[in-house]
Amino acid sequence: EDMIRIAVDGPSGAGKSTIAKAVAQRLGIDYIDTGAMYRAIGYKMLKKGINVDDLEGIQRLLDTTEIDFSKGDIILDGQVINDLIRTPEISKQASSCSAVGIVREKLVDLQQKMGGAKSVVMDGRDIGTVVFPDAEYKFFITASPEERAKRRYNELIEKGQKVNYDQVLADITDRDHNDSTREITPLRKAEDAIEVDTTNMTIEEVIEYICKEMK
Ligand code: C5P
Repeated sequence: EDMIRIAVDGPSGAGKSTIAKAVAQRLGIDYIDTGAMYRAIGYKMLKKGINVDDLEGIQRLLDTTEIDFSKGDIILDGQVINDLIRTPEISKQASSCSAVGIVREKLVDLQQKMGGAKSVVMDGRDIGTVVFPDAEYKFFITASPEERAKRRYNELIEKGQKVNYDQVLADITDRDHNDSTREITPLRKAEDAIEVDTTNMTIEEVIEYICKEMK
């Protein structure tokens, strides 16, 4: 059986997860949302009141944490947390805990195990560079910050959350800054990744484009 790993990386709000999910569904393989894993750790740290510079506390938390995916749900220590981690507060929390070395080590290891035995589409920031440097296909999805803010804003409004566009844009540029300037594996395009600027594309066009590239 031929295994394929498809890495989908890029900045916040570029539509990676929608695209990755759709591609996985077309190919009939699993989709793994690594951002959700950082969000899960961020969420648990917040709940337990553990600070990003409390390395001992974080290590203890990591040692006693289980993260799983099942039928599109993300499960943290047995509890489905899909909606709990999709808030602006947890976005920030995820971004700051993702700069902690021991958090990345643990999650990268888990991701390599998840994608080690079966074909997957995995989305994140470092899939093509760190998690699966030898992935069969790598895509780097971008869009202008304004376009990404617009998409994220619409998504949050649809979910019934109260948000303001300027705030969403500010959060996106903040996270871009954090993600691309952190010391450990900052966000960057793998040399052999295909870059797709989706600013003027619909999601369907992007999915179509990616599927064509893989033929
Ligand atoms: O993709 P998403 O916005 O859900 O990710 C939340 C945060 O988790 C990102 O801002 C980034 O800081 C971090 N992340 C990461 N590496 C990944 C996936 C997400 O550092 N592979």
